[in-house]
Amino acid sequence: MRRTDLESISRRQVIASGIAAGVAAALPGSAAWAAAANAKPILRTIPSSGEKIPVVGIGTNAFDVTAPEDIATRKQVLQNLPLLGGSIVDTAQAYGKSEEVIGQLVAELGNRDKLFLSTKTPLGGDVSNTQAVIDTSFKRLRTDRIDLYEIHNFFATDTLLPVLREYQQAKKVRYIGATTSFENQYAPLLELMRKQKLDFIAVNYAIDARNSAKEILPLAIDKGIAVLINMPLGGRRGSFMPKLAGKPLPAFAAEIGATTWAQLLLKYNLSTPGVTAVIPGTTIMDYLTDNLAAGRGDLPDAALRKRIEAHWDTLGI
Ligand SMILES: NC(=O)c1ccc[n+]([C@@H]2O[C@H](COP(=O)([O-])OP(=O)(O)OC[C@H]3O[C@@H](n4cnc5c(N)ncnc54)[C@H](OP(=O)(O)O)[C@@H]3O)[C@@H](O)[C@H]2O)c1
Repeated sequence: MRRTDLESISRRQVIASGIAAGVAAALPGSAAWAAAANAKPILRTIPSSGEKIPVVGIGTNAFDVTAPEDIATRKQVLQNLPLLGGSIVDTAQAYGKSEEVIGQLVAELGNRDKLFLSTKTPLGGDVSNTQAVIDTSFKRLRTDRIDLYEIHNFFATDTLLPVLREYQQAKKVRYIGATTSFENQYAPLLELMRKQKLDFIAVNYAIDARNSAKEILPLAIDKGIAVLINMPLGGRRGSFMPKLAGKPLPAFAAEIGATTWAQLLLKYNLSTPGVTAVIPGTTIMDYLTDNLAAGRGDLPDAALRKRIEAHWDTLGI
């Protein structure tokens, strides 16, 4: 991947992109645009390579759409993600049409080289033809190179991980890893991290689900494994974001420049030792600019993290 450096993008390009996409949230003058266009995105290093990536990407389990208006909002997101300094696009074979939608839109936009495409092996089915199983994502994503390819929730790990490694050796896959979002899979995840050489893991972590910080994130630091955080806003099915609507943002959010709950809680997430990047589910421009703003400026220190946790515990969510 060639990283898009926000500083190399003129304001005119950002404005043009926002106007072309009809994107109110990204228009000059809005707070979201100012935050997105003025500050430098925070980058973090992938330990196994030294490559740096922006700390906020997008999750696409809600890119399983066919209606033209739904495709249009996702196209705006994929177009503007790199223009606003992001790059990680997380998908999976199990997310319905997500890979195909991304493949089609990225081909139309011509911005493949500006994205860090992450996908996952299937969650079920016959995997005996391992090469065909792995090749499915290349075809759907319309690419000959996948940046990160992960085993999804431990389905057929022993069969598929060696093949992912072969693809990595053949330089078709740049990084390999394993993911879960279930606490009852933390033990096998820890075992895999100890036994296998992995570039990445992805695991759930959020203000209301902090258990992966106990053993998994410290082990990732020890082993030099990059960590993507899935479900950083509580997960699509159980997101706490609607419950925060109408609840005032605590005054201390201003200490780190957070102007929304999403920014505060993603910044909290990003300040957790061991976290490399977050991949909040993002289908519209308003949320893209909001979430990317969390990856700029200051992050909470240990004392502020404690205040955020204490405040959260008073909310009764
Ligand atoms: N095992 C695994 O590997 C695994 C498991 C789960 C998820 N994932 C990955 O992780 C990604 C993130 O997880 P997720 O999408 O389930 O959950 P999430 O990111 O925690 O939450 C997504 C929810 O938050 C809302 N949202 C996003 N940005 C917002 C903002 N700025 N303000 C208010 N609300 C906002 C979304 O709203 P809308 O509904 O309006 O879009 C959606 O309902 C997935 O897309 C997927 O790529 C991986």
